[in-house]
Amino acid sequence: MSRGLFLSVEGIDGAGKSTHVDFLRDYLISKGLQVVVTREPGGTVVGEKIRDLLLTSDHLHSNTELLLYFASRQEIIKQVILPNLENGVCVLADRFVDASIAYQGAGRQLGIDKVKTVYSLLEPTLKTDATFLFDAPLDVALERLRSNRDLDRIEQEPREFFNRVQQAYYQIANEEPYRVKIIRTDQTIPETRSVLIKHVDELLASKGIV
Ligand SMILES: Nc1ncnc2c1ncn2[C@@H]1O[C@H](COP(=O)(O)OP(=O)(O)O)[C@@H](O)[C@H]1O
Ligand SMILES: [Mg+2]
Repeated sequence: MSRGLFLSVEGIDGAGKSTHVDFLRDYLISKGLQVVVTREPGGTVVGEKIRDLLLTSDHLHSNTELLLYFASRQEIIKQVILPNLENGVCVLADRFVDASIAYQGAGRQLGIDKVKTVYSLLEPTLKTDATFLFDAPLDVALERLRSNRDLDRIEQEPREFFNRVQQAYYQIANEEPYRVKIIRTDQTIPETRSVLIKHVDELLASKGIV
């Protein structure tokens, strides 16, 4: 049996990840794949406790935040992501390591090298086969975020924080254009879906899946 596809969705808050992740899962299932969706931080018993800490604690040192994200990630890699991939199941991650590079490395200004160094301590250090980077102009994303929900600790950060995060995502996409596909969401949801489908079809064809 061949290893399952490892996919992630990324993007700044309000970019449209949650709006498209279920659609993406259902589309992959319609193509005959078995799919498991994971969410970060969380997804394991310990991970959900860490999620709670991360989203509700005041005055967390940025290094603590970084290490907690990776602690949660280590658990989900070992318990959920790897076993599923080994069983040929497609894993669709709602955020993965790129999020730490963007949010902690750039947003919190810890530096991208530091984030990569921490990641190198995990086992194994997986890389996604493809990452869909949902993206809208910063002010569009922030307006959606602020009008839609009660904001958690990170979502309350100032515009400049999200600007750094978004720029870091662009840098990742520039460095790895084959892995990271930017999907614009400043258009209608059906329009965004059709772009997403085009990328997914190309990916599945390149892997010989359909
Ligand atoms: N083309 C589009 N793609 C995704 N979301 C869109 C689009 N157009 C408008 N929206 C709206 O933008 C918001 C995106 O929020 P959400 O999906 O929760 O973002 P995220 O999970 O990335 O924080 C939703 O309210 C959604 O209805
Ligand atoms: Mg979301």
